[in-house]
Amino acid sequence: MNDPASPLQIVVLLSGSGTTLQAIIDEIRSGNINVEINAVISDQPDATGLTRAENVGIQTCALLPRDYPDRQGFDHALASCIDRYKPQYIVLAGYMRILGKSFVERFAGKILNIHPSLLPRFRGLDTYARVLEAGDAEHGTSVHFVTAELDGGPLIMQARVKVLDGDDEESLSARVKERERKMYPAVLNMLAAKRIEMKDGQAWLDDKPLEKPMEFDLSR
Ligand code: GAR
Repeated sequence: MNDPASPLQIVVLLSGSGTTLQAIIDEIRSGNINVEINAVISDQPDATGLTRAENVGIQTCALLPRDYPDRQGFDHALASCIDRYKPQYIVLAGYMRILGKSFVERFAGKILNIHPSLLPRFRGLDTYARVLEAGDAEHGTSVHFVTAELDGGPLIMQARVKVLDGDDEESLSARVKERERKMYPAVLNMLAAKRIEMKDGQAWLDDKPLEKPMEFDLSR
């Protein structure tokens, strides 16, 4: 059993610019969250997120799907790479590759994702374009445990934003990302405090099943 006061050990997986990773790094460095990033792994060798990690001395690794004959081979290599860093949780922060069933089952209940929509609405890609097209009054972002079902695992926390007249993808994503940068570190800190876990296929908070996702309020 880990000491509840010891930092939560995580490995972050990303594919892109890494602003979400940067938010986690910043909150760690400010002493606001009890988390330690053991490594950052990307499927894109030139992901800016890797540079952000290197800038603060976090170990990085680029693992490219094209170097493996099939999904199973890649997922196996990814799992071996992650095991080297002995994380308690795997944190997806803009990791745009689908993880195979055996990978997800191997780390069952130990993978987190942040997805830019109010799940279960708008699973998959292009959520901003789709919400604008649908004419919804609100959009947002969700943190959830990862299961083999794409963007379908148990929800932990969501943040909502109003869709404003004149919004385009850029303006809407800027407001959603502002919330993501606060919400994801807050969830990680709750994991570090052992307040959240996945059990029996459900998210639990403070030893009770979470009936609906927590709502994140940017002002708190
Ligand atoms: C984040 O907005 C996250 O919600 C999204 O990718 C972005 C990563 O941005 N994740 C997904 O779409 C996962 N399906 P970043 O690279 O600047 O952190």
